[in-house]
Order: sequence, then structure tokens, then C-alpha cells
Amino acid sequence: MPNDKAVSDHYSHGNLLNAIEEALGELGKTIDSVNIEDLAPVDEFHIGGRQATKNFLGQLDISQQEHILDVGCGLGGTARYVANKYNNKVTGIDLTEEYIETGNALCAWVGLDKNIRLLQGSALSLPFKGETFDGAYMMHVAMNIEDKLQLFNEIYRVLRPGAVFGVYDVMQVNDGELSYPVPWATDKSTSHLVFPMDYRSKLSSAGFEVSKENNCREFALEFFKVLRKKTEASGGPPPLGLHTLMQASTADKIKNMIFNITEGFIAPIEIIARKK
Ligand SMILES: C[S@@+](CC[C@H](N)C(=O)[O-])C[C@H]1O[C@@H](n2cnc3c(N)ncnc32)[C@H](O)[C@@H]1O
Repeated sequence: MPNDKAVSDHYSHGNLLNAIEEALGELGKTIDSVNIEDLAPVDEFHIGGRQATKNFLGQLDISQQEHILDVGCGLGGTARYVANKYNNKVTGIDLTEEYIETGNALCAWVGLDKNIRLLQGSALSLPFKGETFDGAYMMHVAMNIEDKLQLFNEIYRVLRPGAVFGVYDVMQVNDGELSYPVPWATDKSTSHLVFPMDYRSKLSSAGFEVSKENNCREFALEFFKVLRKKTEASGGPPPLGLHTLMQASTADKIKNMIFNITEGFIAPIEIIARKK
């Protein structure tokens, strides 16, 4: 699939595990002493980082779910947070091979490799039998996926009846020409943003019942304001952060994303649904 290759090329770094280990070294940490909180600045690749994860997961009844699917898991930061806090089993799937290899190494570093399995693959063709999972979530992923109905059909198929599915994605909220690059795409060829109502209607067509929708615009703008103040106060970013992933293009991507949110074109949105 040409889009899949373009997407994974966009996210691939080339030497990510070493870059993370070096940045941890600057923080006085080694692979034997690192913990999941040390990794959070780099492995929660969505607006609001760890705080957004806590806000989002708090609405998903995670403690009731034995086996959870993380769709587009990236480096697996959310999966490690979930497995560590709730002691359940998490399976993650992601298109980007380097994120999966790095993510599995990070799970081993923090002793969570028994609970978590990260696999390379596409969310549009999940390599799991029907009704495998008790719950699923997806954070900042479907911005890269055009066929959202196929995506939701696949997630619906692998969930048990009654299971919760949470989405936290960047969505279009008003018409307007977006500035690129942004963290999920270099240009519009791999950016497939749609309105929350499109998510809701595709979720319903797949068979989900949508129970909640939250616009997290104000949370996002406050998050970026605090981050900017911290970075200015310490004379630059800390050794480990999303800049470790995005490298030289970080400043442009973040600046454009804040501009697109401030102009009211896009916003991070949570949608909570359930398989009937
Ligand atoms: C912005 S990152 C978010 C990663 C992770 N969910 C997080 O919040 O830290 C988007 C991720 O979606 C993955 N992705 C995009 N399209 C995908 C697809 N069709 N199937 C699986 N993963 C996909 C990318 O490889 C990338 O790791």
C-alpha cells in the first residue's frame, strides 16, 4: 500500500533506540534504572502527553478489561502505562516497524514485556480472530487513515460484545487550509482529517454505539502554553522529548499544529463508543 509506506517513512527515525538511550544517559539513567515515567516525554506521541492519556483512559473502564488492543500503538507508551497501572494484558499494533522494535525493547527495559506484545501491521487488516479483546483505544492515529469505515469495521470485529472503544484523534472542526508539516504528516497527501460527525457516522455504520464526545481544544492550548514556558525557562528542550522522535522538523511541526488549533481549523477530540 503506497500510503502505508509513506506513513511509516514519515515516522521512521533510523536510529531511535540509540537516540533514546543517549538522551536517558544525559538524564543520569541507564536501561537498568529507567522507569515508565522517565520515558513518558518521548513515548506518548499525542497532544497532552501522559496527562491526556490519564484523562482519556479514565473514561474507558480499563480496570474491567483483561486484554486490551492499542491501535496504532507507536512506541507503546500508553500500553506500558496501562499494563503497569492495571496489570492487564495489552497488545499493540502499528505500521511503523522501527516503533515496534523500539517499543518492544522499551517494554523489556522496564520489565513489562510479559504483559505487552507489540506487533507490526496495519489497523485496516488486524491479524486477530474475532472477539479477541475486552476493550480497545486509539490515540492520534486515524489522521493517517483515509478508510475510516474499514478501520472501525476491523476494530469492531476483534472486540467482544459490550466492549468499550475510545478514540483520541486530531479532527477537523472548521473548514480551512491547514499549514504543514504537522507531527502526523509532512503534507496533505498522508493527512486524512475529517469532522467528529464523520467519525460518529462511520462508528455507527460499523455497529458501535457512541456515548460521548469531548473537544479538548482548551486543554491542548494550555498544554502548549505551559510547555513553551518550561522550555524558555530552561533555555531549551530537555534531553528526552518528542523532538527525539521528530528531530530537525520538530519546531515547524509543533508551530503549525498550534497555529491550526488556534485558528480553529482542528482540535484534539475524544470519542467513546461501545460494541453493541
Ligand atoms: C502520532 S503517532 C501516535 C502513536 C501512539 N498512539 C501514541 O499516542 O503515542 C501515530 C501512529 O499511528 C501509526 N499508524 C498510522 N497509520 C496506521 C495504520 N494504518 N495501521 C497501524 N498504525 C498506523 C503510525 O505508524 C504512528 O506510530
